[in-house]
Amino acid sequence: MSIDNYINELFDRMHADGVLPPYLYNAKKKTFDPERDWMYYSGPVWTEDEPRAAVKAFLTGKWLVAGEHCAKFEREFSKMFGFESSLMVNSGSSANLIMISALKKHLDWGDGDEVIVSPVGFPTTIAPLVQNNLTPVFTDIVFEDLNFDLEKVEAAITEKTKAIFISPVLGNPPDFDKLKEISEKYDIELVLDGCDSLGSKWKGKELSEYAIATSCSFYPAHHITTGEGGMVSSNDKDLISLARSFAWWGRDCYCVGSANLSKKGACGNRFDKWLDGYEGKIDHKYYFSNMGYNVKPLDLQGALGLEQLKKIEDIHVKRRENKEKAESIFKEVLGDMVHIPGELDHAETSWFGVPIVCNKNK
Ligand SMILES: Cc1ncc(COP(=O)(O)O)c(C=O)c1O
Repeated sequence: MSIDNYINELFDRMHADGVLPPYLYNAKKKTFDPERDWMYYSGPVWTEDEPRAAVKAFLTGKWLVAGEHCAKFEREFSKMFGFESSLMVNSGSSANLIMISALKKHLDWGDGDEVIVSPVGFPTTIAPLVQNNLTPVFTDIVFEDLNFDLEKVEAAITEKTKAIFISPVLGNPPDFDKLKEISEKYDIELVLDGCDSLGSKWKGKELSEYAIATSCSFYPAHHITTGEGGMVSSNDKDLISLARSFAWWGRDCYCVGSANLSKKGACGNRFDKWLDGYEGKIDHKYYFSNMGYNVKPLDLQGALGLEQLKKIEDIHVKRRENKEKAESIFKEVLGDMVHIPGELDHAETSWFGVPIVCNKNK
């Protein structure tokens, strides 16, 4: 019997016995009992496709660690969002850490160089800056969209400023034309923490098109989920090779899978005489040129990601509809006691959540 048949049998029996994973059980439920049922503000949007794909990847994989499914997910993700290259890691926090580590080395940023950030965001947008001996410079926000005030961003630029690290609040983009204008005027980079904004657009373009590099999170509350998981993406392939090195123990060589088997490896340096000043031969695969980490995902997370990508268009539409529904309910019930930020004129937000600001004195 093929593995697919075993998996079909497993799911058939689970259905027959009414034993379903909670995310499928909740999705199938058509009634809501406010006395008993929990209402989750978010969660995985999965059908049976995801657990089936994960079980199959787990049972058939040669290595359980990042392998062919992760590599395919990286390629498909890049194709879908218009990147030259992507690297899957084990979380959005790791994606930020690896992205900032790679950018610092790639662009020759020094200790103490400054990166402008917003105080309204997630801790692991900021932590990688401190971990890399960079200085986060906080600029205040505007209530209109809860993103940083772009006038204040410009005023905060000094000769030490290397980048503006944008993390659109709940996926809602600030004015990316203005950000681009500032970055070009002062010759600094735009870096995107896109963990909350996958699929959000500015003037019809992906937000990542404006940035040198973009991170993404696949934690269950996010647009697509692999349980834990994250991605670093860019149009600069060298930056992603460097990011891969940081994520894979600091290893210099990028040969994996069949690339290992070609003579000298795909990198051209395996078992060769290539190290300046050293006469003997060295295997490049065991040469470590960066102070690295190990933040690789499991291959079954790649399999989950591939299934989730097929649903991203629907998820985008649903998230926009849900924001509208929730907003009208809150407005009806709470009136002017609350202000619910909306999108700017040129934004098309793939809402990560519904922002609610309580009006003072109401
Ligand atoms: C803006 C932002 N950046 C980074 C992260 C971290 O992602 P993860 O939970 O996958 O580590 C989050 C998590 O929600 C986030 O909202």
